[in-house]
This record gives sequence, structure tokens and C-alpha cells, in this order.
Amino acid sequence: RTIHLADYRPTDFVLERVDLTFELDPTETKVEARLIFHRREGADLNAPLVLDGDELNMTGLLFDQIEMAPERYTETADSLTIRDLPESVPFEITVTTLINPEANTQLMGLYRSNGIYCTQCEAEGFRRITFFPDRPDVLAVYTVNIIADKDANPLLLSNGNFLGGAGYGPGKHFAAWFDPHPKPSYLFALVAGDLGVVEDTFVTMSEREVALKIYVEHGKEARAAYAMDALKRSMKWDEEVFGREYDLDIFMIVAVSDFNMGAMENKGLNIFNDKYVLADPETATDQDYANIEAIIAHEYFHNWTGNRITCRDWFQLCLKEGLTVYRDHEFSADQRSRAVKRIAEVRHLRSEQFPEDAGPLAHPVRPTKFREINNFYTTTVYEKGSEVTRMIATILGRDGFKKGMDLYFERHDGEAATVEDFVKSFEDANGRDLTQFSLWYHQAGTPQITVSSTYDAGAKTLSLSLEQMVPATPGQTAKEPMHIPLKFALIGENGSEASPAAVSGGEVTGDVLHLTERSQTFVFTGIGARPVVSLNRSFSAPVTLHFAQSKEDLAHIARHDSDLFARWQAITDLALPNLMAAAKAAAAGKAIECDAGLSDALLAIAADETLEAAFRAQALALPSESDIARELGSNNDPDAIYKGRQAILSAIATAGADTFRSLYDSLASGGSFTPDAASAGRRALRNAALGFLALSDKSPAGAAQAFAKADNMTDLAQALTVLAHRFPEAPETHAALAAFESRFASNALVLDKWFAIQATIPGEGSLERVMRLMQNPHFAASNPNRVRSLIGTFAFANATGFNRPDGKAYHFFAEEILAIDKRNPQLAARLLTALRSWRLLEPVRAEQAREALMTIERAAPQLSSDVADIVERILKG
Ligand code: ARG
Ligand code: ZN
Repeated sequence: RTIHLADYRPTDFVLERVDLTFELDPTETKVEARLIFHRREGADLNAPLVLDGDELNMTGLLFDQIEMAPERYTETADSLTIRDLPESVPFEITVTTLINPEANTQLMGLYRSNGIYCTQCEAEGFRRITFFPDRPDVLAVYTVNIIADKDANPLLLSNGNFLGGAGYGPGKHFAAWFDPHPKPSYLFALVAGDLGVVEDTFVTMSEREVALKIYVEHGKEARAAYAMDALKRSMKWDEEVFGREYDLDIFMIVAVSDFNMGAMENKGLNIFNDKYVLADPETATDQDYANIEAIIAHEYFHNWTGNRITCRDWFQLCLKEGLTVYRDHEFSADQRSRAVKRIAEVRHLRSEQFPEDAGPLAHPVRPTKFREINNFYTTTVYEKGSEVTRMIATILGRDGFKKGMDLYFERHDGEAATVEDFVKSFEDANGRDLTQFSLWYHQAGTPQITVSSTYDAGAKTLSLSLEQMVPATPGQTAKEPMHIPLKFALIGENGSEASPAAVSGGEVTGDVLHLTERSQTFVFTGIGARPVVSLNRSFSAPVTLHFAQSKEDLAHIARHDSDLFARWQAITDLALPNLMAAAKAAAAGKAIECDAGLSDALLAIAADETLEAAFRAQALALPSESDIARELGSNNDPDAIYKGRQAILSAIATAGADTFRSLYDSLASGGSFTPDAASAGRRALRNAALGFLALSDKSPAGAAQAFAKADNMTDLAQALTVLAHRFPEAPETHAALAAFESRFASNALVLDKWFAIQATIPGEGSLERVMRLMQNPHFAASNPNRVRSLIGTFAFANATGFNRPDGKAYHFFAEEILAIDKRNPQLAARLLTALRSWRLLEPVRAEQAREALMTIERAAPQLSSDVADIVERILKG
């Protein structure tokens, strides 16, 4: 069944209050929900009350405390309909349900993981707890009572402020929580169990003291220190940059090890995948630290963008997610290096969102229909949604953006809002019409912009012609021209920036050029010498540029642009043609050549100590295999892409042997580990050098020594990766893998890395290795992190292994998807998106992939709606 945005209408009944009582039991938890409603003014007087449910066992139903007559209600598998209700006076419905948290392997609703009761209600999990109007525009104040065995569950938590607790009969106790902020059901949370805690306080800008608590498994408290630090920095930043203050006496985070996603912003009680809470130098990489900082901030920022102002319906998901990702990106940029952060964001956008936008699962940032909302927590809604918010800030400028945000908070606090409300706040605060800009929310597909420039020395003018094209996407064939803000500079000798006397042909504000028509020519006058055009600086718009700039011009940008992102982009643009040519040569069995200009440019950057180390590491990372595949377009042969790329890397390794050796030696960390961005950057550069050194090495000795000497997880994991990928069968590699496994046997998050490193070993033996690893006693099909680290990493990040030409890996994958779907549909559906680009493969592989997808589709009657939705769209689109 497909849900359409156009069908939205408010509920007939207004929910006034919610009182929940949980009697927790691992297999038979009793939930009593007392709900006070009244009929909405103007609603049909005969309209029944329809509540949502999912796999519920209802054992009681009262109307104003009296048992409801059977003829007044109808229960189906997913709804409870109640008739003959009062015209206007409030009434109370009491629903009692029995649920089984242990058996809840979907990890939606109330479930039990490692002895801890916890909940995940977004998007539609609350209906697995009780019958309820489970939609985000139903906001109510909740009181929650929790009763449980005291020994097993000393901790009883829910949203809001703690009201009190006491003993409750033999061996039991209870706790009561009250959340004064009206909220939708998807923000409800409950946690019970026995956990350790790290405590701190934060004094808000109006001098209120907030208790901060992070709950983790006993013994892991020390590993929550960084998360606590990140939380306090997030709270401060949101006050300083967005003027947003926290609004309860207590803010809690609970880390659990079985979780479908990254984390969840439940009001006052965030629940996290422990991967994004726990860190120490011995067990966490620099990337882990950066992720923790970003996700702690993201969930905290949701308190205002998501919770105080929530979404009217799930079509508006980007209203909270795109905006909150933008906020966490800005936070990390302020905490770290802005340019390096931007490069990482763009890399991620290009490798995840661009393929989504170009394939069968493409959808607008604000979709208009869906079959399964879980499948719309996508990189388009999140990351492209963030880019759309960023463009609003670019168009309106810092102050204009701030005015719009302030108006949005002022107007819509306490409401369930829409994307239109959001955009209107910016329009009204700035007196600017954003109608055309709003197409970014409604048109799917990555805009392609073709650019050319000509300089007229006599007239001293520079003409810049741009043409935009938004590709067709499923359900959207014809597209309107978009408003695309492109930051630019005209770079002269030695990096000086020319300022034109005048511009014609379109709007230019400061350093932003506004492309609004299908094709447009901007003419800049008073330009004394031919400049080099640097366009889409800082990646101001999420588009693909087709701008045939000469190698000399790109090199000029790479050397001189004051925008570091643009410098990195120029390096990438220099490298890509070489990598594409290498892939084509490999496919044709021809010799692969590395452009000496490319390796010279890269080695110059690698050795340039005026540049920050993290930036140099990003430059050395070169475009990924998926970047190359995207550039090549179709008929992709992952083996040729891999082989071509490796040959280029090897040529650079040979040319730069001395550079890499001296970088590796000089960047050795003296002293103790700190996770700050500058230190992480030095480790990244040193580890990049290690990777290049190993490419020239004939023996694994160097990498094995790096493994033996590593004194932090970043270095250890990189050394192990280099060993495993470069020397998969060497005794040193087997020894290192075994040592790593036994050293970290009791640390699930580190074991995930061990599985992931092996899942990405390229080439022929990959599938057999993955199948063997599934037999490892540490493999656990019930743990989403573990499944993602082995099967997910293999499918998403091992292009040669997963795409073996005989299709065996696709068929293995299809069987796994069917098995995972039985226990956890959301996890299965997410993994299945790894096949979304199957049509871009060369015909032999594409046919194998199609057959594997058909195997899944044929299981149709048994499929979850999550997997059925994805497989059908992938096959059809
Ligand atoms: N709102 C959460 C976050 O972005 C993620 C929830 C994901 N829910 C889902 N059904 N996939 O922080
Ligand atoms: Zn979010």
C-alpha cells in the first residue's frame, strides 16, 4: 500500500494526555496506555477513532474506565477502530497489551538486548507497544510508570524529568517520569536494566544546571568520556551559534549494542548504537572519534530541530534530518578543520548520495509517496537535505540565514511543521522569494552543469557560459531549471583574485553566482588578464560540473586557490582522467600509464608542510573505485577499475618512495595519544604513506613492523588493513589477524573492525573468506553491527569480490538477505541497497545481479514490506 503526501489530513481526534504503565518482563511485558482524547472541532461527528497497531496482543480495552462493548470496536492486525464516541467532551481510552521484548528481533518498539530493555520508535515503532495514533503530528504530554524486578533492573528510565520511585511489592520497584514537552510517539523512549553511568553537569546560558548522564555497560564507563566531552561542546555550540538552550533538568544517553541505526534523539533520553559512544585510544580509530563527536552533536541538536519543532508527516523527514545534519556538519567544521571536513562530506555525498540519485532508488529530498517509510532514511533525505539547507545559507548569507532560523524557531516551536513552513520563514525574514529554489526539495537527480569560459583580451571581458540539466529519475521525466548558487573566484597570477568592474547575464552576490536558467552566460568586465575560473568553491551546490579546464588551469587552482576545498577538487579533477584511462587500459589488456604530472603534483602536496596534514592525506587518497565507476557511467567492470587504480597508485608509490619514507618516519607519534583533529591528521598522513610504502614493498615486513609497533587503534587497524589487503596470504598477515582477534576477543566493536578488514580484501578469494568468517564463533546474525561489518562491508566496499563475474557473490547475498529479512527487515532492506547500481555493470555481471534480485523478488509472499519495496524498485527503476 502506497501512502501519498496529497492524502494528508489532520486526525479527527486530539490527543490530550498519555499515561503509560509498563510492567516489564522479558517475554510478557504488560503495557497499560491511558489516552485522553477529544473530537477535533469541525471533525465529522460520526468519525470513529482509528489507532495504529503492529503485532499486538490486546488484553483489555476500557472507555472511561468501563469495559468497552465489543460492538463498539474492531481490531485488525494493524488497527483498532472505536465508534460511538462523544461529540466534544474529552474521554479516556485505556488499552492493555502484552508484548514480548525478547522475541522482538526487528529491534523496533520495545526490545531486550543483552539484558537491557530499550525502545526504538521512529518511525513507526510505538504501534508495536500499544494501539496509538502513531503519527508525528499527534503531540501530547506523557507520564510514564515503569515497574520491574529491582535486581535485574536497578535503572528505570524514560523521557523528561524524574518524578519519583519506590519499592513495589516483593523484589520489584517502580519509577515515574514526566515529560512536560508535548511530543509525538516516535520520540518516546524507555530503558531498563543494569548499567554503569558517567555523570557531569552543564550550566546553560540562562544559568540553569542540567544533569548529564551517559549510561553504558558496567566496566565501559571510561570509554564514554569522549562522548561526554562532545556532548558538552555541542550544548555550548548550539547556544552560541543557533541561540538554542536545553530545556529539561536532565539529559541522558544510553548506549546499547544491538541497534538498527546510528542513534535516536528521543526527548531527554537519546539511545545510541554503542559504536557511536564508546572510545579510547586502544580501541577506537580517529574516524570513530570523529563519528562520535558528530552523532552526539546530531542527536543533541535534534532537541530543537526535530523535537521542539517536529514533522507534520513523514514526507517532511528532511525538515528535521537535513537541517540537523547541516547543524552537525557546521559543528564539526567549527571543532576541526573546516576545509578537511568539507572534503570528507563531499567524498561521502558523491560516493553514497550521487549513486542513489542516479539510480532506481532516486527520490526527491521531500518525497511525495512511499510504501515503507523505513526505506526513506536515506542519504538523499539526510545528506542532500543538508546540502539544500547549506545552499539557503549561501544564498541568504550568514545573517539572512540566522534571521530565517530565528523566525522558524519563533513561529513553529511546539508544532509539527512542513518544509513549506521552513522555507517561508527564510522568505519572510529576508523578503526573498525562494519558489524556484524550493525545486531542490521536489526534483530528484543530481544537476549536471556544463561550463565553458572565454577570455577576450581586447575587451578585457570574461564570459562564463553555463547550462544545467537535471536527469530524469523514476516518476519524474521532465525537470524545471533550478536555482543553483555557485561560489566562484577568478584567479590570476600567484593566486590573486580579480574583482570584475561589472557583471551582466545574471545575478551575482559577493562571491556567489546564481544560475537560475537552463542556460545562461555571465560576462565579467574589467578583467585585465586571463584568469582561471574556480567554480563551485567549497562545493556550494551538490551538482556535477562538466568544465573542460586544461591541466595547467587545474594545476593553477591546485596550487593557488585560497579555498582549500577547491584545491582538493582540482587535484581530484587532475587525477580522474588518468584513473579512467587506466581502467579502460586494464579492461583492454593494455599497458597502464601514470601521468608524471599527476604524481609530481601529488608528491609536492604530500611534502608541503605549509598544508595541514589531514588535507595532504585527503589529496593522497585519490578518487575511489566508486568515484571512477561513476565517472565512467555504464558498462562497468569493477576488476578493471581496481586494476587500473592500483597501477596508478603503484606508480605514485614508486615515484614517491623517498617522500613516503620520510613522511612515515618524521610523523611518528612521540608521546601520548590525543584524539584532536591535528593529531588525527598526522596519523592519517603517516598511514597514507604506509599504504604507499607497502605498494612498493615485496615483503610484508614493513607493514608487520608497523602492526607490531602501533600503540593506538588508528595505526593498528591501518597496519592490519595494509597487511591483509596487500599480502593476504602471508604468514605475517595470518599471525597479525590471529593476534588481533585474540587480543580483542571480548570487544565487539573492535571485532567488527576485524571482520570488516577481512571483508574488504579484494579479489578472488573474497566470497569464500566471507563465508568462512560467518562460521567464526564471533559472528552473530542477531547483532546488526556484526552483520553490517561482514556482509554489509563485503557488499558495499569490496567491489571486486562482491561483483565477481560468475555472480556467486550476488546469489550468496540474496540468500543472506532472505535470511536476515526473517529476523530484521530494516537491516535486510538497508543491505539490499548495495545492489542499487546493478544496471551500470557490464552485461555479464548485470545479468547475474538481476537474477539474484529475482530470487529475492520470487520470495514475495514471505518478504517484509521493507525488502519487497526495495527489490521492486531496484528491479523496475
Ligand atoms: N532519527 C534518527 C537520527 O537521524 C534516525 C532514526 C532512523 N530510523 C529509521 N527507521 N531508520 O538521528
Ligand atoms: Zn537525525
